Amino acid sequence: MTQKKITWKSVIFGCYKTNNSLPAAEALPESRQSTSFQRLCLSDVSNPSSPLSPDDLSNSLIGSKLHVFTLSQLRVITSNFSRSNLLGEGGFGPVYKGFVDEKLKPGLEAQPVAVKALDLDGMQGHKEWMAEIIFLGQLRHPHLVKLIGYCWEDEHRLLVYEYMARGSLENQLFRRYAAALPWSTRMKIALGAAKGLAFLHEEDKPVIYRDFKTSNILLDSDYTTKLSDFGLAKDGPEGEETHVITRVMGTQGYAAPEYVMTGHLTTMSDVYSFGVVLLELLTGRRSMDNTRIGRDQSLVEWARPLLRDPRKMERVMDPRLEGQFSIKGAEKAIALAYKCLSHHPKARPRMSFVVKVLETLQDFQDSLVGPFVYVVPNENDSKEHFGNGKRAKFEEGKDSREENGQRNNYLGWRHWIKLPMSSIAYSYPALYKKCEHSLNSSKNHSEKEE
Ligand SMILES: Nc1ncnc2c1ncn2[C@@H]1O[C@H](COP(=O)(O)OP(=O)(O)OP(=O)(O)O)[C@@H](O)[C@H]1O
Ligand SMILES: [Mg+2]
Repeated sequence: MTQKKITWKSVIFGCYKTNNSLPAAEALPESRQSTSFQRLCLSDVSNPSSPLSPDDLSNSLIGSKLHVFTLSQLRVITSNFSRSNLLGEGGFGPVYKGFVDEKLKPGLEAQPVAVKALDLDGMQGHKEWMAEIIFLGQLRHPHLVKLIGYCWEDEHRLLVYEYMARGSLENQLFRRYAAALPWSTRMKIALGAAKGLAFLHEEDKPVIYRDFKTSNILLDSDYTTKLSDFGLAKDGPEGEETHVITRVMGTQGYAAPEYVMTGHLTTMSDVYSFGVVLLELLTGRRSMDNTRIGRDQSLVEWARPLLRDPRKMERVMDPRLEGQFSIKGAEKAIALAYKCLSHHPKARPRMSFVVKVLETLQDFQDSLVGPFVYVVPNENDSKEHFGNGKRAKFEEGKDSREENGQRNNYLGWRHWIKLPMSSIAYSYPALYKKCEHSLNSSKNHSEKEE
């Protein structure tokens, strides 16, 4: 039997048929509608023998919800990419605030937007830009940031997203001179991010996000969490297969050990990264901290021995919480993080399980420990919590790259990762069992409480 070849054109047109021609999709919940049909894969558009042109892309996306902007339109809405509109900058390029409405493009809802401009760096930047459009153009979910449109003019590549009022979790969790994020907010953020990842993993064609970290988790004014940055995302393999990636990309401190060492990439690699972020939320410490010495630079290496000993909870929890957290909730969250960080990918929980556990942590009513005392951080505290101070410049909206050529090192921007063999530790099967017991027993407990 001959299989019909899928071309990017046939698939894209197929993806964006109107509801009239796809009656079955109407019955589905909103978050799943856009992917109920055959979703276009990145590989469908990355055929080097027939590269996509800007016209191909925009023609293909007719009928989609994505808008195609001109560079001059984006100049207008960002006041010519002025520094006063700069929201931040990552490895991809600077991000500016703007405002769009119907006057700019008919049919455009009036709203603030974030415009990300690619610092074109060879083909890798273009590939990531394309991946963002292919994934976020088709996947819609309350916990994924909404891509509104894009611009492709000459060498310029830009992306236009819904604006997220509180920026990234990285900025909120580690910023100086602000009250610490309360426990309940941290648990809300963890749950939203887990739901976003679970959605990706449970698609008909699973998506491996590959760059789960605090800077890619965006927050709305009410701390609704949305995942951004699909530049490194990959369509997952079918069934029990794993991808073997020859070029390991990701961010040091978040990437799963088996992926770093062998290139084996599965949805469980994302679960490991989720464990790192959960640990950052619990401890208030960055995944990598160059101001610490030796193994303590890695949050996971530092925390692992503490996570398996319930008596060490006090040392794990962020001192900026001032003891204001649910003890039962913290116990469960610590056990969950420990399980996600297992060295054995198969011993890690699925994201749907993580969501279930985190749902039980949203309204724990047991006593919060300790009185609330706000401690004004001094310079040493800042160094302890926020690294070497370079980050603060960035948060103040300055283009730290101009002031500090090292910034990308500090941030751990995506790069090829190669860690020494010695960084892989061995697992403790008995402890996984203990952790599992703790999760399950506290789950039963909370179910009884309901
Ligand atoms: N949709 C958005 N709404 C509001 N602010 C945003 C939005 N997208 C990005 N930002 C801001 O821009 C900053 C830079 O984002 P970007 O994703 O380019 O880099 P990063 O996540 O910091 O690093 P990396 O390049 O490793 O992903 C974010 O930290 C955030 O403050
Ligand atoms: Mg990012």
